[in-house]
Amino acid sequence: MAVRLASFHTPVLREEVLAWLITSTAGVYVDATLGGGGHAESILQRLDPTGMLIGFDADPDALQFAANRLSEFGGRAQLVHNNFRNIASSLAQREIQRVNGILFDLGVSSHQFDEPTRGFSFRSDDLLDMRMDRSQALDARTVVNEYDERDLSDVFWKYGEERASRSIARLLVKRRAESRIETTGDVASIVRTVVGDRFLVKSLARIFQALRIEVNNELENLEIALREALPVLDAGGRIVVISYHSLEDRIVKDFFKHEAALFQPSGNKLVPDTKLDPTLRILTKKPIGASEVETRSNSRARSAKLRAAERIRSVT
Ligand SMILES: C[S@@+](CC[C@H](N)C(=O)[O-])C[C@H]1O[C@@H](n2cnc3c(N)ncnc32)[C@H](O)[C@@H]1O
Repeated sequence: MAVRLASFHTPVLREEVLAWLITSTAGVYVDATLGGGGHAESILQRLDPTGMLIGFDADPDALQFAANRLSEFGGRAQLVHNNFRNIASSLAQREIQRVNGILFDLGVSSHQFDEPTRGFSFRSDDLLDMRMDRSQALDARTVVNEYDERDLSDVFWKYGEERASRSIARLLVKRRAESRIETTGDVASIVRTVVGDRFLVKSLARIFQALRIEVNNELENLEIALREALPVLDAGGRIVVISYHSLEDRIVKDFFKHEAALFQPSGNKLVPDTKLDPTLRILTKKPIGASEVETRSNSRARSAKLRAAERIRSVT
């Protein structure tokens, strides 16, 4: 295969993932975000010959690359082209009722980011696209050319937390009336006109993050996937999530907290709190970050936050 292992994607927190995820070396594990298959390979190497892994990715390029990388494991690695929001139904189709652990390593892979034809990056001037799954209809060109100004501004604010969201949306709508916005460079030049050079890179990162989240419906998919994953986890099984920005991390943290809650406060001293039946035990009180050594060799690891929780009881 033409793409080299390291250039496709270097997995972050590799040892930490193994330590938090694997509770039984004969178990069945899900890698919900296969990417280049780096984590998947490490998991399979750690398991006994009876242990297996089901890997999901929305991106056929990732599946093709990972299939090649994991070929030595034969039938112990089953790869699925599907959105991770469909984990439960997809496992049910394969007659897999329960698994011992599920890993989510969120966001895009280095390959997706660096490959010019994918249009994710503002560092080169390429056709705007940003779809993880290129069979999906919505791409970034549609968002920037067809959303109305208010919706665009909301996307930039909600998913990018960009303070100049309104001005950027306004100029974008003005420019596209002159000619359609086609490339990452077109968007970058609009952002530059609004924010100037001093904070340009930070604003570009926020605007491109916002577009990517919108195109791939990332936050809703994560919320759904976490809910879907829970009943599939065996008692004692683990869910491990690595997130790369605060919007994702907040969803994971709130979900874990909600599922681990013992009481629902009534908010009234005279009314007792409602006792709940928690489904998760939180294992990482604070998120785990990458070591200095790792961040020095992989800049992507800098923003990584790993959270882990354990299933308390099995849904019958
Ligand atoms: C950070 S990479 C994973 C890298 C992987 N852990 C490795 O070791 O190479 C994230 C991957 O998740 C995939 N992905 C993101 N959101 C997804 C979703 N909703 N459903 C399925 N795959 C998704 C992306 O296509 C990408 O390949």
